[in-house]
Amino acid sequence: MGGRCEDPRHHAIWQFVRSQLPPPPARVVELGCGNDGGLVPCLRRSGYRAVGVDPEAPPGHAYCQSSFEEFRPVKPIDAFVTSAALHHVGDLGYLLDQVAAMLAPGGVVVVVEWAWELFDELTASWCFARLAPDRSRPNWLRGLEEGWTASGLGWRGYEEQWALQARCHRGEEMLDHLNRRFERRVLERSPYFHYDLEATTEAAERAAVEVGLVKATGIRYAGTKPG
Ligand SMILES: C[S@@+](CC[C@H](N)C(=O)[O-])C[C@H]1O[C@@H](n2cnc3c(N)ncnc32)[C@H](O)[C@@H]1O
Repeated sequence: MGGRCEDPRHHAIWQFVRSQLPPPPARVVELGCGNDGGLVPCLRRSGYRAVGVDPEAPPGHAYCQSSFEEFRPVKPIDAFVTSAALHHVGDLGYLLDQVAAMLAPGGVVVVVEWAWELFDELTASWCFARLAPDRSRPNWLRGLEEGWTASGLGWRGYEEQWALQARCHRGEEMLDHLNRRFERRVLERSPYFHYDLEATTEAAERAAVEVGLVKATGIRYAGTKPG
């Protein structure tokens, strides 16, 4: 497969992303790479001409510290990759129109995401019981648990309020926008929470999904731009 990511979460995602990409030295853009550079270091080590676009991206020639809406590549892009960023963007339709316009014919879009609307109370309880005891380390699931307890609301009411405030797009909405612009090649529903839980593997989350304790909220999608 080539390359390895230092961060275990990036490494797990990388296995899927790499399997969908054209061979190096294709031009790859990571949309919303985050402040640690996301998959860009792995991509570059594997021979891709990769750039990460994110207002919070690290400094350096491999990154563009701007929103994707302001990004103007000089040449067509062979593949776009995005992980846990698409649900945060403002205008999903506008942004994916830009992605489609920048992609070379036959180019690939690889998306790792989640569908918050599938995150039910049983799944939340399973996750919250597996949070690390150390409360000083930031953890978005801990924030959710604390917010829920403080709200006095039922899980569904609290979760919908949280998603509205955080302006999170639903998984189905993202897939709908992707399906309208690209030819779907892969759609997998996958485990999503284990990276942020104490001593919990992907296999353990998958087993919990199989017995109905946890919903598979993760989305792994790959599509191509019609030629
Ligand atoms: C939850 S973080 C995920 C970071 C990284 N991809 C990861 O998987 O660890 C979401 C990132 O998306 C970025 N983001 C949100 N909207 C964006 C936009 N319109 N253009 C570029 N980046 C955006 C945020 O700045 C943030 O760094």
